[in-house]
Amino acid sequence: MKDKHVTLTLNGRKATLIVEDRTTLLSALREYGVTSLKRGCEEGECGACTVIINGLPQKSCLVLAREAEGAEVLTVEGLVKKGRLHPIQQAFVDEGAIQCGYCTPGMVMTTYALLKKNPSPSEEEIKEALSGNICRCTGYLSIIRAVKKSAAILSGKVKGGELREDD
Ligand code: FES
Ligand code: FES
Repeated sequence: MKDKHVTLTLNGRKATLIVEDRTTLLSALREYGVTSLKRGCEEGECGACTVIINGLPQKSCLVLAREAEGAEVLTVEGLVKKGRLHPIQQAFVDEGAIQCGYCTPGMVMTTYALLKKNPSPSEEEIKEALSGNICRCTGYLSIIRAVKKSAAILSGKVKGGELREDD
């Protein structure tokens, strides 16, 4: 029986999830309508379910929804502002880093967390950061290019995307 209420901040707004004791954050958020995060392995291996919790990338299939009480959770939906893609999303599109797209939301959120912590990562640091995100389509080269391009745009080294105050 679903009788637990979990209140958190989801993409900047208060949200209340109704869950069971063992409901994962992945299931709870998808049931709430946040469908960007994908159900992949559900064992913490593929990264398709990655969200940012209190500033850190987390595999939401490994987090119980009740553990997210009071947390700030960010998903891809929270990156889109006024209908415009975030520069990271745009870079993934521009670099052809999306094929089936199943891994993309997780890749984007991992990239977002990386660039918040390290605005100019080396290729090795990018590979390390993305090591928990599996892509079965692209071969990763285009994804690494997209992360480098995102870093350059967000740090103002190149023009691209629509930079915003809160990027
Ligand atoms: S579904 Fe969570 S890591 Fe694969
Ligand atoms: S684009 Fe298909 S799994 Fe990455």
